[in-house]
This record gives sequence, structure tokens and C-alpha cells, in this order.
Amino acid sequence: MSPKRRNQATGSGPAKRTKVSTDDGDESEDESGLPSSSVLRLYDQDKVYRLLEPGPVVLVTTSLNGVHNVMTMGFHMVVQHSEPALVAGIIGPWDHSYKALSKTKECVICIPGADLAQKVVDIGNCKGDEVDKFDKFGLTAVRAGEVGAPLIEECLASIECRVHDKAMERKYHMWIFEAIGAWVNEEREEKRTMHHKGIGNFALDGEEIDLRDRMLLWKEYQDD
Ligand SMILES: Cc1cc2nc3c(=O)[nH]c(=O)nc-3n(C[C@H](O)[C@H](O)[C@H](O)COP(=O)(O)O)c2cc1C
Repeated sequence: MSPKRRNQATGSGPAKRTKVSTDDGDESEDESGLPSSSVLRLYDQDKVYRLLEPGPVVLVTTSLNGVHNVMTMGFHMVVQHSEPALVAGIIGPWDHSYKALSKTKECVICIPGADLAQKVVDIGNCKGDEVDKFDKFGLTAVRAGEVGAPLIEECLASIECRVHDKAMERKYHMWIFEAIGAWVNEEREEKRTMHHKGIGNFALDGEEIDLRDRMLLWKEYQDD
């Protein structure tokens, strides 16, 4: 059975892959010679972010002229372990936070637990130039060690960041941040983080499995 031309999962967009019908009606891949699958179906390439699903949804704080703001960010990734520790994140001019980030070159990436899930979504659905989000969502802004942007006390962790490289900002709104300090709140009861699967669907952390003894090539990163 060949995959349907129209994406079944999302109902959007025609599939961009072509099949060739042979004389006996069978369909085969045109160049590779490999058989087609009866269980794989096409998925809309514009929605692959839902499959890749980066790390936990985070809150990003900024501060401009003493005014603190916070936004939600789902698109981010670790770029480099250390020396320096680098993280990439997408923050665009559609976010009010972009202005503060562009001016100060600083922010804090805060990792909320699942107990803050509704707030996290609501924070990402309003604008810092219209509302004081710390006040509205009852978040406690506390002083960071190195940057002017605040840590969020209710989050599981907060990472102080300074812009390291903005070469890809103009094209992709991708900022490379250096993590220059980090804080954790070990008193939070809810330790699970939330992961965006697109359009307001989230997965929460589940069971953990320990496969550290199989990480033979990466011992240097196992320090606990
Ligand atoms: C779950 C979720 C994930 C989001 N991820 C991003 C993101 O990765 N990058 C981005 O620029 N905006 C993202 N947003 C949108 C911003 O959070 C939103 O534009 C927010 O209102 C910006 O706040 P600000 O205008 O006060 O800066 C996301 C929103 C939600 C709800």
C-alpha cells in the first residue's frame, strides 16, 4: 500500500515524495530499488519540529531599564558542553523580549516544572509591553549573579546567559548564548519538565532509565 499523497496526521500539504508504478501495478521507489513500506506514512515536513521536540519548554527573562519581562521559548538546543557552555535559542522581533535582548545582550533561561504548565502557556500568549507578567503570573524575580535579567525562584533551574554569537540572528532569529552561571531550586516538589509537541500539546517527563554504564566513549561527562 502506498502512502497517501495527503498527510493523514495533519490533513495539510501534499506529500513531496514521488512513487513509480510498475507494469504489474506495484509501486516501488524510483531510484533506490528499496521496497515501499506498508507501515510508514508520510509526515508533513513543515511539522518535523513536533517529532524532534527539543528540550523542556523554558521561560526566558530579560530586563531593560529596570523593567523585567518573561517569555516562553520552545525552540532551543544545547550547542556545546563547555569551555564555554553554549545554548542556541530562537527569539524573534515578534517578541517584545527581543528588544531587551538586542540591547542588553543578556537573558536568563529558566526551566519550569510541570506545575507551572498553564502559566508557561499563558506567558507565551501575552506581551511584555502590555502586561507585567511577573505580577500577573505571580512569579518571583530574584537577582542573578552576573546579568541584569532576573532568575525565577519558582523554576527548577535558571541559567544566566550572555549573547555569545548573533551571526545567525538576522537570518534565523537564532541567538547563541553562553551560559555564564546556573542556579537550581531543589525544593520544588514537581520535578517533571514539560515538552512542547506543537499547537499546545505537551508531554511531561516520564520514567528515567539509567544507562550510564553503556556510555563508554563519554565518561568525561559523567561526573555524578
Ligand atoms: C509553548 C510556546 C512556545 C514558544 N516558543 C517560542 C520560541 O521558541 N521562540 C519565540 O520567539 N517565541 C516563542 N513563543 C512565543 C512567545 O513566547 C510569545 O511571542 C510571547 O508572547 C513573547 O513575549 P514578549 O512579547 O513579552 O517577549 C512560544 C510560545 C508558546 C506558548
